[in-house]
Amino acid sequence: MARLIIGFMGAGKTSLAKHLATDYLDMDDLLEKRLGMSLSDYFAQNGEDSFRQEEHLLLKDLLPRDVLVATGGGIVTLAENRQLLRQADEVIYLKADFETLYERLIKDNSSHRPLLQLKAKDELEKIYNSRQSWYEEVATRTIDVSHLTPREAADFYKHSS
Ligand code: S3P
Repeated sequence: MARLIIGFMGAGKTSLAKHLATDYLDMDDLLEKRLGMSLSDYFAQNGEDSFRQEEHLLLKDLLPRDVLVATGGGIVTLAENRQLLRQADEVIYLKADFETLYERLIKDNSSHRPLLQLKAKDELEKIYNSRQSWYEEVATRTIDVSHLTPREAADFYKHSS
């Protein structure tokens, strides 16, 4: 079974995965390859619901594998995904307050983050708030990364496991 890293955009899921395993998998990267376009283009052409279905299918494929996975921030929105996440060996939740995440996000406006282009700050904060209990519900481990770099988060993880 996979070990997965969850958390809102900007929490440093992929950066932590890079520090923990050279052979980690990144769901956003895999989806862009599968879909043959950037996530921004996919959202624009097919909409978010269709993206969520593709993300769900990929999660199903990855879960049985013995691999570290950096998920996309919206993985917890589907109940079917939360059900799958409960079966994983470990679910590491990278938690931070919204303002910290937002500051990081505006410095790193990537094409795999259509929501950042489509939503105003207050809408993003609503999305952030709506997901908190879902992240907490499926996490087996929570690391507060508000004041940690990805390297520090990796050291913290290694020394506390
Ligand atoms: C999303 C987060 C993104 C990506 C997509 C949707 C979200 O991943 O999956 O843009 O709904 O929060 P990151 O959390 O890796 O930026």
